[in-house]
Amino acid sequence: MKINILTLFPNMFDGFLTESIIKRAVDNKKVDINIKNLRDYSKNKHKQVDDTPYGGGAGMVLMCEPVFDAVEDIKKKNTKVIMMTPQGKQYDQKMAEKLSKEKDLLIICGHYEGFDERISSIVDEEISIGDYVLTGGEIPAMVLTDSITRLLPGVIEEESKDNDSFTDNLLDYPTYTKPREYRGMKVPDVLLSGDHKKIDEWRKEEQIKKTKEKRPDLINNRKRKTIGKYSLIEDTSKKQIVNLNMDNAYKFSPKKKGVFDVNKVMIVEPTFISKVAKKNLQKKLGSLLNQVQIVLNDETDDEGASYVLGELDRMKALIISLYAKYLDQEYLSLLMIKLDALKNEVALKEMEKIETVNYNKKGRSR
Ligand SMILES: C[S@@+](CC[C@H](N)C(=O)[O-])C[C@H]1O[C@@H](n2cnc3c(N)ncnc32)[C@H](O)[C@@H]1O
Repeated sequence: MKINILTLFPNMFDGFLTESIIKRAVDNKKVDINIKNLRDYSKNKHKQVDDTPYGGGAGMVLMCEPVFDAVEDIKKKNTKVIMMTPQGKQYDQKMAEKLSKEKDLLIICGHYEGFDERISSIVDEEISIGDYVLTGGEIPAMVLTDSITRLLPGVIEEESKDNDSFTDNLLDYPTYTKPREYRGMKVPDVLLSGDHKKIDEWRKEEQIKKTKEKRPDLINNRKRKTIGKYSLIEDTSKKQIVNLNMDNAYKFSPKKKGVFDVNKVMIVEPTFISKVAKKNLQKKLGSLLNQVQIVLNDETDDEGASYVLGELDRMKALIISLYAKYLDQEYLSLLMIKLDALKNEVALKEMEKIETVNYNKKGRSR
C-alpha cells in the first residue's frame, strides 16, 4: 500500500517514520509512505500557500491552487483522497479496516484556519480524529497512517489483531504479565491453569463485562441478526452467537436446533416477549394441570395432593420472579386467581382424605 501525505511541515514526520513498527513496515516494504511538501506546489516566488479569508476574520486559509495542483500531480487512477478536518466523519476502527484495503491514499493536512471550502470538491472523504481542534492535520494524518499500517498483512501478528479493542465492537480482554502477584494484586487463576478452552471463555466474558462497564455504547452497536422476531448478537470473529445479558430482554434456550446453532435467545420486542413468555408459561401450566387432575380424580392417591400443593406454590413463585415483568397486569392477576382456586380445590381434597382416614381409624378402633 502507498500512503501519500501532503503537508506544510514534512519534518514533523521524521520521528514517526523512523521508529518502531512503522519503521519496520516501511523497511520491509509493507507500506510506502511518501511525504510531500505542499509548498513545492506553490507558484508564488515566496512559496506562499495561504491567504487571508474573504469577509475578514482571523487566521490564514489554505489556497485552492497549490492543493489542486498537488492532488492532480500525486493522484493516480485508484488513489483515494482524504482531507483531515475536524468537520469530517469521525474516525474509528471500522474506517481504519476499510482504508487498509485501499491501494493508494493521499492524506491532505490542513493548517492555520483550514482549507478554502472549494478544496472539498476534489477529496473523496473528509475525516476527523475526534471532536477537538488541533493546530494542524499532521498528527491526524499520523493517526490514520499508524492505525492503517498495523492492519496491513505481515506488519504485526495476525492473532494480536483478533481481540484488539473495537474488533466486533468489544474492548480487548484484560492482560497480565510477570510477576504472578504484585502489591497484593493477583493474576486470575484461570490464566495460570493451562486450560486454553477455559482461558478463551474467560477472556470473551471479560471482554463483554469490560465493554459493558466502560463503553456500553459499543455493546448496543453490535451486529444484530434478526431471524423472524428473534434478535441475536453475532460474534463475527468466531461466527457464533454470543450470549449477552440485556436488560428487559426475555432469555431462553431453544430446544430445536435449526440452521443456526443457537444456545441462547434474547427477545427484545415487548409484544413478542409477552407472546413467547405466555406460550412457555402455558406449557408449564399444562403439565401442572395434569397433575392437579390426577389428584382430584384419583381416590387412591394419598400423597399426590401435598406434592401438587407444593408445585402450585413453586409455580406462583416462578411466575412472580421470572414471568411477571413480561405479562400484562390483567393476564397476571387472572392467572394468580386461577392458581389460588386450584390450590383451594387440592387443599380441600387433601382435607377430605385426612378426615376420611381419621373417620376410618376411629371406626375401626370402636
Ligand atoms: C486549526 S485547524 C482548523 C479548524 C477549522 N477552523 C475548524 O474549526 O473547522 C487546522 C487544521 O488542523 C487539522 N485538524 C485539526 N483538528 C482536527 C481533527 N480533530 N481531525 C482532523 N484534522 C484536524 C485540519 O487539517 C485543519 O484544517
